[in-house]
Amino acid sequence: MNGSPDRTERGLNGFVGRNRMRVQRQYLILRELIRQPRVMGTLFPSSPALADEMACALSPSMMKSGILVELGAGTGPVTEGLLRRGVPPERLFVVEKSPALAECLSKRFPSVNVICCGAEELRSHIKGDEKIRAIISSLPFRSLPFDVGSAIMKEIEAALSPGGLFVQFTYALIGEMLHVPPTFKKVRSHLVLYNLPPAKVEVFRKPKRGERHREREEDGTAAAEAS
Ligand SMILES: C[S@@+](CC[C@H](N)C(=O)[O-])C[C@H]1O[C@@H](n2cnc3c(N)ncnc32)[C@H](O)[C@@H]1O
Repeated sequence: MNGSPDRTERGLNGFVGRNRMRVQRQYLILRELIRQPRVMGTLFPSSPALADEMACALSPSMMKSGILVELGAGTGPVTEGLLRRGVPPERLFVVEKSPALAECLSKRFPSVNVICCGAEELRSHIKGDEKIRAIISSLPFRSLPFDVGSAIMKEIEAALSPGGLFVQFTYALIGEMLHVPPTFKKVRSHLVLYNLPPAKVEVFRKPKRGERHREREEDGTAAAEAS
């Protein structure tokens, strides 16, 4: 066998530890799903491929000033993708309604700002005048009650700075995303097959000041940068 018994034991302990954490997170998801199926919206955490697809909408310059907000972070797979992309943890605010999941996020990402609240109250929990450059959401708009989804989207529209990006995934591979304001322009749409179930990531841009998007058309270009 290669390596000393010490190294082998440490490697084994690391493997067991990582998998124990994964099992604990999966248990939390299952428990929340049983408690509130429409709020949780899924049994499986997003795959790294889905998380990376969401994170790649963000340009490096977008991470240099202002803040980025993740909605419905769950146990943190997308948070992990955003950090992998290079988002500075102190500029990242993750919002999660479930106290148990928010606690899991705080332990897993001690340098990220974790807020336990409903996304519909976003602005009352983010103080200061830092611009919100992008909102990355895993909220299950299709399973949430219609009026809740609609209230959250109004909050997103108001909170996002002009020119900012709204990134959302859905398991509904066909059809339009629910509630997206007509002024938001779709700048990217991508299918991620390596996820359970496969998902579609869509990126929208809020118009800059003085700019109006007449129709929501896909122009195939990379996600525009927030001003
Ligand atoms: C589909 S799961 C996504 C979890 C994780 N981001 C992932 O990709 O695996 C949706 C998450 O949104 C949270 N959620 C649902 N409604 C919410 C709301 N109004 N405000 C904040 N979080 C909410 C749920 O508790 C759940 O953790």
